[in-house]
Amino acid sequence: MPDHAVPSPVSARPAARPLEGRIAVPGDKSISHRALMFGALAVGETAITGLLEGEDVLRTAAAMRLLGAEVERQGEGRWRVAGRGIGGLAEPDDVLDMGNSGTAARLICGVLAGHPIFAVMTGDASLRRRPMKRVTEPLAATGAIFRGREGGRLPLAIEGARDPLPLDYVLPLASAQVKSACLLAGLCAPGTTRVVEREATRDHSENMLRHFGATVRVGVEGAGRVIELEGQPELVAAPVAVPGDPSSAAFFAVAALLVPGSRLVIGNVGLNPLRTGLFDTLREMGASLTVEHPRTEGGEPVGDLLARGSELRGVDVPAERAPSMIDEYPILAVAAACARGQSRFRGLAELRVKESDRLLGTAAMLEAAGVRCVVEGDDLVIEGCGGKPPGGGTVRTHMDHRLAMSGLVLGLASRDGMRVDDGAFIATSFPGFTSLMNGAAGAGSIG
Ligand code: S3P
Repeated sequence: MPDHAVPSPVSARPAARPLEGRIAVPGDKSISHRALMFGALAVGETAITGLLEGEDVLRTAAAMRLLGAEVERQGEGRWRVAGRGIGGLAEPDDVLDMGNSGTAARLICGVLAGHPIFAVMTGDASLRRRPMKRVTEPLAATGAIFRGREGGRLPLAIEGARDPLPLDYVLPLASAQVKSACLLAGLCAPGTTRVVEREATRDHSENMLRHFGATVRVGVEGAGRVIELEGQPELVAAPVAVPGDPSSAAFFAVAALLVPGSRLVIGNVGLNPLRTGLFDTLREMGASLTVEHPRTEGGEPVGDLLARGSELRGVDVPAERAPSMIDEYPILAVAAACARGQSRFRGLAELRVKESDRLLGTAAMLEAAGVRCVVEGDDLVIEGCGGKPPGGGTVRTHMDHRLAMSGLVLGLASRDGMRVDDGAFIATSFPGFTSLMNGAAGAGSIG
């Protein structure tokens, strides 16, 4: 994995032609992390296809190896994991370095909580700034001990529980990472682990636990869910086919919507309803965005997305929608910048603790392109340009892959193009982004 000490600036020119053709985006990041972790906890060999080979997921693969699972790459996106069984992971003989990945760090805290082993975890400068108490506090009720820096931040020393207790936890915030960490810890505890979320978040952990043979009950309560997991199941290895990541497809869908005359098909995109808030919102804005060949693969809904150049109007996005599109606000902001009229995105407090402060970073990105916007409390208000924004500025990415890719799409859709100060972090979630975009939008669009 490269270190990112040397920034690599990148620019996007205004699109010279419409986006056309059929593309496939890399595998879903959330599902890829989970496939490796559940594979390591299962008995037998898990065959994974379509695994995202981005740096974040490679960090999880390396951590599972350090914890004693056999993890082997067999071909592009094809991986094999020979698991150790629940409770069977070994003490790592080196620090677990989770790089830029909050999902890897937080979910693995859940895995470690239930194993009687000692581990030290760290990450890059972005991850070392992010809050970890949201997982270490609930996980401490298993009996595990976490010692971190001020605010519970990484590096963390972790002593897993010898006889872990089941958790009964009401999530104080909407977070699939916290929910999943509790469920992973609950695998090692006897009895029922119960997690209550007031707002439903992505349920890939629940789906995959069932796929591996665990008993998971989910009750719907208004907008929320009550999840109960029977502890100490035998997880049995099962094949996992990872669908394309809707959060990666988002950059191509928005690029195609914004460049007039585009007609782009993005094949095999995961369409779990707890992930598709962006696509619903774009349709409310007037986007021509349709799903072809809807089907279910590996317990997850998938389909082919067809995006055509569209004239968009401003939108008011309610706070309740945030969990289903939490990673998509920077690219939605690009769409809103080109739309006619004002947009307001409500309730974005969680964006402040992503790979960067994405609320401020998104506003600064728009300002660099000459788009008027303002942060009001936890809301972002954008004055759409009703067409191409001026562009011509530089986006500061702050070690955040999604700001980098959003800034490049903004450049394609603008009058004068945009520069991005560091494109290196794109490789955490979307290796091959630049060449795929140059294939769809024309050689030399990005470089
Ligand atoms: C993820 C959950 C979300 C999301 C992240 C992936 C997951 O984080 O932003 O990119 O795979 O569970 P939060 O749980 O912090 O909302």
